Parts: sequence; C-alpha cells; structure tokens
Amino acid sequence: MLEKVYAAAFLGVDATVITIEVNIDQGVGYHLVGLPDNAVKESNFRIHAALKNNQFHFPGKKITINMAPADMRKEGTAYDVSLAVGVLAASKQVNANKLQDFIVMGELSLDGSLQPIKGVLPIAIEAKKQGFKGIVLPEENAKEAALIDGFEVYGLKNIVEVIDFLAGNREFQPLVFDTQKYLDEIDNQFSFDFTDVKGQESVKRALEIAASGGHNILLIGPPGSGKTMLAKRLPSILPSMTLNEAIETTKIHSVAGNTKNKEGLILERPFRAPHHTVSDVALVGGGQYPQPGEISLAHNGVLFLDELPEFKRSVLEVMRQPLEDREVTISRAKFTITYPSSFMLIASMNPSPSGDFINDENKIQSSSLEVKKYLNKISGPLLDRIDLHIEVTPVPFDKLSNEIPAESSKSIKKRVQKARDIQVKRFEKDTIHYNAQMDVKHIKLHCKLHQETKELLKKAMESLNLSARAYDRILKVARTIADLEQSKDVKSHHIAEAIQYRSLDREHWI
Ligand SMILES: Nc1ncnc2c1ncn2[C@@H]1O[C@H](COP(=O)(O)OP(=O)(O)OP(=O)(O)O)[C@@H](O)[C@H]1O
Ligand SMILES: [Mg+2]
Repeated sequence: MLEKVYAAAFLGVDATVITIEVNIDQGVGYHLVGLPDNAVKESNFRIHAALKNNQFHFPGKKITINMAPADMRKEGTAYDVSLAVGVLAASKQVNANKLQDFIVMGELSLDGSLQPIKGVLPIAIEAKKQGFKGIVLPEENAKEAALIDGFEVYGLKNIVEVIDFLAGNREFQPLVFDTQKYLDEIDNQFSFDFTDVKGQESVKRALEIAASGGHNILLIGPPGSGKTMLAKRLPSILPSMTLNEAIETTKIHSVAGNTKNKEGLILERPFRAPHHTVSDVALVGGGQYPQPGEISLAHNGVLFLDELPEFKRSVLEVMRQPLEDREVTISRAKFTITYPSSFMLIASMNPSPSGDFINDENKIQSSSLEVKKYLNKISGPLLDRIDLHIEVTPVPFDKLSNEIPAESSKSIKKRVQKARDIQVKRFEKDTIHYNAQMDVKHIKLHCKLHQETKELLKKAMESLNLSARAYDRILKVARTIADLEQSKDVKSHHIAEAIQYRSLDREHWI
C-alpha cells in the first residue's frame, strides 16, 4: 500500500516541502531513493529500533521509499519521524488520518523519543505558505516554529505521541506564542551596556555616529585600552530589529542549528567575533554541505574583527564582495546558494606592532618600516570600506575608579533611532536604507555643501594631506552627523568633525 508523508528540505536559508512516498509490497528489501545522504540512509536502523521498542514492528516486506523532488539533496537525521510514520501507515499498523494536513519531522532515538532538528523556522514559514494546517515536531523545536502565527504547532515527546496525534487517539494542544508580546518584553535587554564604560567620550561619540549611519568603523589603540569592551556594546545602540529583520536573522541561525536552546526568535542584533585564525569557509560560508559563515550569522548585526592585522590577507580578501553586495553566493556544480550578509563591520588593531602609538614618547617605538609593514597587511580594499577610524587611548585611573555610571545604551539608542528614521525617509523611494550605503550619485544629491564649507574641506584635505578616497567617506559621515543634529544641511562643523575620524589617512601613520 502507498502512503504519503510531507517534510521539508533546504536550499540555503529557505525550505522546500518534499513528499515522501512509502510503498509496501510482497517480497523483501528496503530501498530508499531520491538523493538521500548517508545520515538519511542510516535512518532505517534508528526506525527499526524505535518501532520495536514501542510495540510496533518494522514490516518484513519489500519497502520502497521515494523522496521527491528527486533532484534535491536530503540531508541529516530530521526525516526519521517522517519515514517511520510512513512505514507504519503503509503497513496499516496505524490509521494516520491527519497525515495530509501536517508536516511531520524529527530525529528518532532508539527508544522512540524525538530529538530536535535544525532549520525549523524556515520549514514553518514554507509549510504555512503551502497551505498546511500545521507541523508536528520534537518538543524542543516547537517554540521556534510557533513564531509563525495562524499555524498549528505540536511539539511532541516520542513516536507514540506522534501516532496518537495523527490517528486522533488523544487530544493535544497546539503551542500558541504571542510574538508581539515577546518583542515588546525583550526590547532593550542587552547583555552589555555602555553605562559600564568610563570616559572614552569621543570613542562613544564615534560609535554613535557609526551606528546611526551604519558605517563600518576601525578602533586603533594599545592593549587594554578597552577596544573589545567598546565593540561588544555596539549592538546595544543599533536601532531595534524589525520583525522582518528578526525572522531573516533567525532563519540563518536556524539553518546553522544555533537556535536550539534559545527562545525561538533572535531579537538581539547578532554580534559575531571570529578569531583571527578563522578559515575562509568559516568566515564566508560554504563547505561540502554548505553552511552559512560568520558574515551571514552576523546578518543584521555586527561583525567584530579583533586584531585586524592578524587575520590572513586571503581571508580578508574573500570578504570584499559580500561587504559590497551584502550577500554571499556559494557555487557548486549542481546548485548555487545565496546567504544574506548585511552587517556592520567593527575592527580593532594596535597602532603599531609594539602595541603603542608611535608618537607616544614614553614607550618603546617601532621603526617606521615596521609600522608600514604592519599597516600594509590591512591596507587596500578592506580599509577602503571603513568610513571611520578612531584612536582609543586608555582611560586614566581616576576616571576608571569613578563610581558614577556613564550614559546608558538605551539613552544613546534613542538618538541613533531618530537619526536613522531620517535616513529611512530620505531613501524611501530608493534601494538603500542608510547613509553608509550611499554611492557617488547619492552623495552628490544628499551631501551638497555651501561654498564656505567646501573651502574648509578643501583646505583640510590639503593641510592634513588626506587621500582622495577619504573625500567621499568624510561626506557620508558628515551627512550622518548632520542627521544626528536633525540638520537638513551638511554644515562646516559636521565636516570638521567627520575629518577627525580619518586617523589612518593622516601623514603621521605612513
Ligand atoms: N573605559 C573603561 N571603562 C571601564 N573599564 C575599562 C575601560 N577600559 C578598559 N577597561 C577594563 O579593561 C579591560 C580590558 O579592556 P579590553 O579587553 O576591552 O581592551 P582591548 O583594548 O581590547 O585590549 P587588547 O588590545 O589587549 O585586546 C576591560 O575588560 C575592562 O574591565
Ligand atoms: Mg581586545
């Protein structure tokens, strides 16, 4: 007899519904077709044991299973439950009435209990889109799927419960989750807050500007000056994620299997800090069974590259394209996957190989050749995409020991949000959303300068010997500074401040 069960497979971060046909006939043998990987093929051992241990039996007949569409890879252990249910229904051990209305997935333990699977959120999104009534999943995955409203989610413990549900032997309650209430509750709850950072007013100001305009930023300072501490707090002042952004980010983490122990939706903007020994694949994604890399896990959040010059040049090179396109494409012979990767880059470095500023007379100095070599490691394409460079000097002890709390992230974020709202409006009819994304055409249109402001910029460029590439960066950052002040025009003092954030373009560095 032939039975059909519905499940889902992945391409990138999106799921596609697949049909599993189970046919049982006279004869012997077990044939699983439709591009299953080894983990799927091995499922019959788990299913065998799980059924036996729960008073069912694995039919000693000819079992043929087809997973359609046949040209799509089916990977992992998530189809155990779908296959087991199909076998039970096709061998008439159970009457699974509801099978046609639900997606049924999960990994099976040998005792028949259900183990969590990856990618539940994209599966639920697709299942709802395809008109399924709901989804049957391991208990641990239910919260994530329940983020999708108007869709029944049943989180169950073991194969017996799954069968009881599908046959209608017992009543189960679907999990209901109030997504909006959750969004309201969690807003502004961040693990790190700027209130802990003493002093560093100018660095905090630069981070506020960076957050407002979505500008990439480089922190330059000696060890212990607080670079890591400051960078970790950047997500706390970024504008709140919209529900759409939260779902986009959660989908990526769901596919990477990072959401298992969390409360479903990811609402905090991600902060990813890969070590400088990270490989190309771990950074941008890929691998034999493609997985999103750090730049995609940082989607809608922050990617922190601590000790930037320590990263291999080749690793930094592979980031160029995604930084520009805000997505990364992985090509294989048979398919191409695109993962989104729109993140804010924050990088840190020491001012010289010895760790100290070169104009600090009290410290051992690196020779200018050593400094040149050190800076060369990061120069070029990546540096070209960083709008702000800021020097971080250690805070003196009396300020560090000051008990008065500094301004909170929540209060800084209010200003950031206001500046961002202006940009959203500015680019309403455009394809971009914030100032950092402006190209030459946008800059011409939105960063018009009065004659005297133009003169000031020209003079500053000459006297500070700023490079040509600094020019556009200064205009973009000045636009954001003007937005923070709710000023329609970019004025001289906005330009003057923006010029301060180009440390690496100044003569004394090279
Ligand atoms: N402004 C500050 N306010 C409060 N604590 C600070 C401040 N600056 C530094 N600290 C303390 O010093 C510690 C070291 O700072 P952090 O690790 O951020 O420095 P770093 O610049 O990243 O150093 P490295 O170059 O060695 O990585 C912090 O964990 C924090 O406890
Ligand atoms: Mg550090």
